[in-house]
This record gives sequence, C-alpha cells and structure tokens, in this order.
Amino acid sequence: MRAVVVGASSGLGRCIAVGLGQRGAEVALMARRVDRLVDAAKDAGPGSLAIACDVTDTASCRSAIDEAAAGLGGIDALVYAAGVGSLVRLVDTDADTWRQTFDTNVMGASLITAAALPHLAASSGAAAYLSSVSASMTPPWPGLGAYAVTKAALDKLVEAWRNEHSGVGFTRVVVGDCGGGAAGVSEFNVGWDGELAAEVVPTWIARRYLSGSLVEVDELVNVIDTVLRCGASASIPSVAVVPRPPEEAR
Ligand SMILES: NC(=O)c1ccc[n+]([C@@H]2O[C@H](COP(=O)([O-])OP(=O)(O)OC[C@H]3O[C@@H](n4cnc5c(N)ncnc54)[C@H](OP(=O)(O)O)[C@@H]3O)[C@@H](O)[C@H]2O)c1
Repeated sequence: MRAVVVGASSGLGRCIAVGLGQRGAEVALMARRVDRLVDAAKDAGPGSLAIACDVTDTASCRSAIDEAAAGLGGIDALVYAAGVGSLVRLVDTDADTWRQTFDTNVMGASLITAAALPHLAASSGAAAYLSSVSASMTPPWPGLGAYAVTKAALDKLVEAWRNEHSGVGFTRVVVGDCGGGAAGVSEFNVGWDGELAAEVVPTWIARRYLSGSLVEVDELVNVIDTVLRCGASASIPSVAVVPRPPEEAR
C-alpha cells in the first residue's frame, strides 16, 4: 500500500504514518514542519518520504501530492489527520479563528483530496478522514464550538466526495480521546487558554464527554490500516474508535 498521511508531524497523524509504515506500507508524510516529518519518516521505515505541505494552500497541496505520487509510484491511500481546534467560547471566536479552523479542518481536506483523486481513482484506493465524537456522538463541547462545527462540516464533506466519486473509498473515522504515546504526543491543546480550560474541562467530565480512559493509538492504526486496505472494493462510510467507558460508567 502506497499511503499519504497528512498531518504527520505530531500526534495521531504521526502515529498513523509510522504505524502504517511498520505494517508494510510505503508512506509519504505531510505537514508544514518538515524537521518533524523527517524524524517521523525514519520511524516509518526505509523509503518513507517527508514532504512539506500547507493544506490551506492549493498550490502546496498539488505539488506535495505530485511529489508523493512520483516518489511512491502512485497513491493507494490517503489519511487526513491535519486539524486545529482553538479553545474559545463562540462569543469570543473572531473571523480569523473561524477562517483558520475551517481552512485547516474542512477546506484543506477537500484540496488535498482533489489533488490526490486521479491517483486514488487509478488505484481504486481509499481515503480516511479523522473526525471527532463532538461532531456526531456528543453535543458540541463548550469552548470547542467552532471545532465541532468544522468537524460536522468535514463529516458532510466526506459524504459529498463519496457521492461524487464512487470509484474511491471515502471513510469518516470518528475518534474519541486517544493517546499517542511518547513519540506521538498530541499538540492539539498547545496554546489553549489555561483559565478557560479550568472552567470547561470539569463540564466535559461532568457531562461524560470525557470518559477518563483513552483509545490505544495502535487500535486506531489497526482500524485505519484495515479500512485503507479494502480500497474501493468495500463501502465503509464511517467507523468509530472510542474509549471503552470506565467500569462505573457502564
Ligand atoms: N488526539 C485526540 O484524542 C483526537 C480525538 C478526536 C479527533 N482528533 C483529530 O485527530 C487529528 C490529529 O489530532 P492530534 O491530537 O494528533 O493533533 P496535533 O498533534 O495538533 O496534530 C495536528 C497535525 O495537523 C497538522 N496541521 C495543522 N495545520 C496544518 C496545515 N495548515 N497544513 C498541514 N498540516 C497542518 C500539524 O502539522 P504542522 O503544524 O507541522 O503543519 C500536525 O501534524 C485532528 O484532526 C483532530 O481533530 C484527535
């Protein structure tokens, strides 16, 4: 399997890229921080490629996919793990924050898919997109309203791509709280306002949006590996990988 993983410089994307490489895939890792990609590519195995890509820029998406397709000899699989989520109440969410969140979480997913589509169509391949429980399985979490809105839009985007291109598999991967381990620590909450976090996190816990347990990232990689290896031969609109609730919550 020749796989492109977007958002592979940290967190879940890094774990997925390395995990797919360790399961035998040839991997092209993409994000903006190339030094991080080079480091991750070493863990993903020989032949892995580190390619700079800013998903908010059409030309960058196209040239990164061209480079990946040339380097790998084609593309069978795409994983979209790039994402941002500012912690901010809706009343304080300004236009720049809305734009950056939509540009990264939704528009970038579509731009990279459009660039990769000819390659995925040629290989009857598959694409998987990381979504969030907060868009479909729980109400939107206070402080992450803009994030949940963009993930709901991403869910619809995946459906729209599936309905326009039946020769490629498109799967939404709903992810619950997931730990990346030492090398794949999530940087999702870097820069969050500590005071606001202290206000909203207890609410997330009280409402059981956070269960207190984590999905093992290896299990997430196993699921994504299986979905991608089905290519377009099976229709897998959605999978959810969420933590098992702690004993007392069952
Ligand atoms: N961690 C969880 O428990 C969890 C749960 C549910 C869903 N998710 C989803 O999983 C995905 C990864 O989350 P994470 O926790 O691993 O976060 P993370 O560590 O912050 O990783 C985010 C990745 O997105 C990349 N990225 C951001 N803006 C980009 C841009 N303009 N162009 C290219 N790449 C860009 C970052 O790379 P650069 O900054 O180097 O570009 C980084 O590789 C997100 O979509 C998140 O919503 C995570």
